[in-house]
Amino acid sequence: MTNEIRMGRAMEKLIIQGGRALNGVVDVSGAKNAAVAIIPAAIMASSGVCLIDNIPDIEDVNCLERILECLGCRIKRDKNSAVIDSTSVNNLNACTEEVRKMRASYYLIGALLGRFKKARVELPGGCSIGVRPIDQHIKGFEALGAQVKIEHGAVIIEAERLVGANIFFDVVSVGATINVMLAATLAEGTTILENVAREPHVVDVANFLNTMGANIKGAGTDVIRVTGVKELKGCSYSVIPDQIEAGTFMIAAAACGGRVRIDNVIPKHLESISAKLIEMGVEIIEEEDSITVISNGRLKSVNVKTMPYPGFPTDVQQPMSTLLSIAEGRSIINESIWECRFKHVDELKKMGAEIKVEGRTAIIDGVCKLTGAVVKASDLRAGAAMVIAGMIAEGVSEVHSLDHIDRGYPKIEEKFRSLGADIVRAEA
Ligand code: EPZ
Repeated sequence: MTNEIRMGRAMEKLIIQGGRALNGVVDVSGAKNAAVAIIPAAIMASSGVCLIDNIPDIEDVNCLERILECLGCRIKRDKNSAVIDSTSVNNLNACTEEVRKMRASYYLIGALLGRFKKARVELPGGCSIGVRPIDQHIKGFEALGAQVKIEHGAVIIEAERLVGANIFFDVVSVGATINVMLAATLAEGTTILENVAREPHVVDVANFLNTMGANIKGAGTDVIRVTGVKELKGCSYSVIPDQIEAGTFMIAAAACGGRVRIDNVIPKHLESISAKLIEMGVEIIEEEDSITVISNGRLKSVNVKTMPYPGFPTDVQQPMSTLLSIAEGRSIINESIWECRFKHVDELKKMGAEIKVEGRTAIIDGVCKLTGAVVKASDLRAGAAMVIAGMIAEGVSEVHSLDHIDRGYPKIEEKFRSLGADIVRAEA
């Protein structure tokens, strides 16, 4: 996307007439946080092409596509699939504004280091939700034998050889787990990664790499064992459904009331969210690849603590806070992953929510209703929280700064409209 188009998105708004129940069936797209790792990982194929399916149609994916093209990849993209030919990569210098803007661009470091043993990658951006260090990524790369320098805002990394190592991460990090796993895939010998993230997208990236010829075991547990292979080749792969988009729909259905079947999900990935909604009084029906949410009347307050998987995901904490703002009684949210993920609270307060934030804790006293207001999306999931707030509020709301939402939710307004919401996109 050019800057002009991005500015255009930033200048759009959603207009929502609140108060409609949600009913019907909605399809979940492929997982953003899996796709944004799998696409850079495709760079590691030195022969053949990668055909990747179930890619979400979001701006973060468009952005990665352009970054890969700058590195010399040839990409044919349809809305939900991409054919990536990385045999022609000829540029190991990923230093564009787009690399700086998105978080997942850090996966270029592990992918390029693995295949070419060197890279120069601008430091990543992404949602402003607290300090986002990459010290654990660097610690892992160094343990594999790489020299790492940070100069002029870029990571410059090089290794004569990469040799397998035992690495114990100080914190459970999705990004560090995936990034070091990428590089270790093409290292000599065996790498043992301990205290790793167990998120579904970590498992999905490991499955993708294994389909390319890697030898990775243990993804989904807290120890991953990578036996290095000489090369990876192209493959066909389908990205898993998006746990967070599914969680957002579940919370929206619970908040607006009605009966919504959410298709193309893996119910196991949603257990922590289902458990909280059930505790609040929502009815949940799980089937093989769908989940139905039935909600009538006012729900009970609950306490939520965000945790790495299988705990309650930080990425649905903000939508959840909207739901809790109209639950009966006091709820407490403890955000244990990010130090600054309550920026949306001021916007919710404009709509009548009663929420007090103390550090990483939000104390929410449920009110009977929210009222429509003009609000903004301060980051991706904050945006989803505000859209849900608009759908439950009395009267009309406007949600601004849609560029954040479009980075990670494919066609959010169309999907909610198909469930009966009154929501349109317009020029701001
Ligand atoms: C991923 O970010 C996701 N992003 C985030 O989703 C998500 O919130 C997060 O994982 C946690 O689930 C992508 O996958 C692109 P982390 P990531 O490394 O990998 C600390 C969304 O809304 N840490 O798991 O950057 C860090 O400060 C986005 O879709 C270090 O201290 O997160 C944080 O407290 C927002 N040193 C904790 O670990 C490091 O080197 C978890 O971060 C790395 C992380």
